[in-house]
Amino acid sequence: MPTHHLGRSSFGNPANAGNLMTLEEAYQLLYDWVPNERLRLHMKQVAANMKAWAIEKENADEQAALKWELAGLLHDADWEKFPDDHCRIIIEELERRNIDPDVIHCIASHGPGYFGVEPVNQMDKMIYAIDELSGFVHAAALIRPTRYDGLEVKSVVKRLKTPSFAAQVSREDINDAVSRAAVSLEELIQFIIDHQKDVS
Ligand SMILES: [Fe+2]
Repeated sequence: MPTHHLGRSSFGNPANAGNLMTLEEAYQLLYDWVPNERLRLHMKQVAANMKAWAIEKENADEQAALKWELAGLLHDADWEKFPDDHCRIIIEELERRNIDPDVIHCIASHGPGYFGVEPVNQMDKMIYAIDELSGFVHAAALIRPTRYDGLEVKSVVKRLKTPSFAAQVSREDINDAVSRAAVSLEELIQFIIDHQKDVS
């Protein structure tokens, strides 16, 4: 996979701290920019996991949880229309809209190997971990007749150890992300199953 190094580590304007968009605005952007329903579902799943993690594990208040949710919802917003400039375009759009720099930095750090931006805070680290694992868990659910129903952590772990399954998902990135976030792989997989299974 080619890298898309952003060439900078600072995003947004600190003066815009606390300046978020509404979920309605974020969904509007998503529907305008991402015609592909599968890709939209991926972003909604990452958003649901991010929001739930913020509330349940990080003790986030409503405003903080919205930051996590927005980052999840928009992290791949430019992927479909601008694959060669993935991440740069959505970052510039959010900067133009004067969005809170935490949200923009979080999006910029969702793939340190590709974008060259190190995850700094727990929100950055979790988007990196949730992003790859969310897609992987979804792939593991889709091949089962009952989908998420009865999907067990151990069967997802077994698939992770099967290199041919969802081969495009980097196991190295998953291990790197989980260790940076200091979470247990099994716990995070269970969390993702529980929080994205009903997202549509
Ligand atoms: Fe993603």
